[in-house]
Formats: sequence, C-alpha cells, structure tokens
Amino acid sequence: MAITVAPITETFAAEIGDIDLSRPLSAEDAEAVKQAFWTYSVLIFPEQKLEAEQHLEFARLFGPLESSIMLYGDAPVRTRPEIADVSNLNHKSEIWGKESRLRLFQLGNRLWHTDSSFKRLPALCSLLYARSIPPVGGHTEFADQRAGYDALPEAMKRKLEGLVAEHCIAYSRARLGFTQLNDAEKTNLPPVPQMLVRTIPQNGRKSLYVAAHAGRIRGMEDEAGKALIDELIAHATQRQFVYTHRWRVGDLVMWDNRCTMHRGKDFDDLRYRRDMQRATVSDIANTCEQAGVAVAAE
Ligand code: OGA
Ligand code: MN
Repeated sequence: MAITVAPITETFAAEIGDIDLSRPLSAEDAEAVKQAFWTYSVLIFPEQKLEAEQHLEFARLFGPLESSIMLYGDAPVRTRPEIADVSNLNHKSEIWGKESRLRLFQLGNRLWHTDSSFKRLPALCSLLYARSIPPVGGHTEFADQRAGYDALPEAMKRKLEGLVAEHCIAYSRARLGFTQLNDAEKTNLPPVPQMLVRTIPQNGRKSLYVAAHAGRIRGMEDEAGKALIDELIAHATQRQFVYTHRWRVGDLVMWDNRCTMHRGKDFDDLRYRRDMQRATVSDIANTCEQAGVAVAAE
C-alpha cells in the first residue's frame, strides 16, 4: 500500500500515513517521502515505534549523519554520538536539576533557530522522535522561511541579494544573557559564514536562512547587521508562516533546516519528563560554497 500525504497547509507541513519507519522502505515509498519533504519541509510520522538504530537508518536515507558535538562539557550523556538527547533527563534518566548545565544549554532551543547553522557544514534535516511528552506544553513551532522570503518587499529582496551572515553558538548564547564559553567551545566553534538567502536545489525555491545563531552580517556595522537579522527573524516567524506541533508519543517529526526555523515551547521541565531524541543529517556543503560565493576568512 502506498503512503498517504495529508498536507496541513497547501505548502507547509504534512502528515505521512501508512508507513512503518522501523522497517526498510521500498524504493517507491522512500521516493514518495522525499518528494513530500521537498514540498512541505516539515513531515510528521505518527505512531512509530523506533529503536535508535531504526531511527538512524531512516535518517541515513537523506545523507550522512552528524555526530553531536560536545556542547555539554564533560557531562555524561544518555545517547550514542549520532543521537542528540533533547530530553530534560540526566544520564541516570532522572529529571534534571534546576541548576544543571544541560538545562542551561537547552534553553537555546527556546529561541528561533535552525540546527547547526553555527557549523561551517550545517544540517540539512533533523528527525526528532518523541518517547515521552509532558501532559501540557512542550510544543515545537516551525516557521516556513521560504514563505517568509516570498513575502518580503522587492526592495528588501534586492538588499539581501548575496549577503553573508556569520553564525556562532556564542551569538545565540549571548541572546540568553549567557556569555561564558569554555576554551574548547571558543576554538572549536568560531563564527562561520552562511548565505542570508539560499536556494533549495530540489525545488529551486529561495529561502531566508536566519536563526538565533546569526549575529553579524559581513560588510555591515555590527549594530545594523544585528538589527537586520532580528527584523528578518521577526518577519519570518509571523503567525501565518508558523505550524505548531503538539506532540504525541511515537511521533517522528522531520524538518528541513535549510528553509525552516523552529523553537521548543515552555513546559514544567522540573516536574514532567519530556524524552525526545534527534538524528541530524549534514548538508552537502557550506551555504556560501553551494551558492558559489567566495568568502574570505575573517
Ligand atoms: C531540536 C530542537 C525543540 C524541541 O531538537 O533541534 O530544537 O521542542 N527541539 O524539543
Ligand atoms: Mn533545534
């Protein structure tokens, strides 16, 4: 039986039915999922039962996997390197403490962002699987940056043409008032260049590529660059461009990091367990390289 695709809006977010991701997909089903993904950018696969290996096997259909970087200092983690632990649980699978470092770092997920844009080779897509969810809150919002781009005034589109932003984990941390990075983080994660507007090869659509990690624009004064980034994030996350996902256990949600932003919403994280695991697929090259734009190291 062929998979079903139920769009949530005409062009953004769709639910995929009649599919079991714990088994290898037929070539036709894999192709149908890919086509739906290039069209809708966010896909929801309800009622899945996945072990880590099955989750990763499905993710590998889209390209090579990222290994999660050590952002958490030496804190022991619950998952293997290809799975990002997006839970509120410590390595003993207990709810984290109020003062835990993990809690502080995951606050970054509350800001509108796109995964790994602070890496020279950013993420193509992310696949997040819900193992436990809180009874209230903890939704995830997704913003369509292609629709955001299309809705910009023509003069703004012209102004953005060819601009290169710098993304860095330090910039998104600073937005949270958090300015201490350890030395390893400073050397391993310097600011990286990314196009402010990119074209998605599979459908030729243009998309904004902004995120909380973006902090400067090359060739602009710091203040002006930051103001433009903030203006574009505010524009791209208006209600009409946003889908809110209310999780059910067993949902696997995948999104295209090249043309969407997302953020996690508040919940009572000291009281309820929220156990989410993410597989992340790397993009094929840095966004400037993909666009054929040479960027000098700064
Ligand atoms: C992520 C992320 C938000 C959430 O997994 O990359 O930002 O709602 N998650 O858990
Ligand atoms: Mn994220």
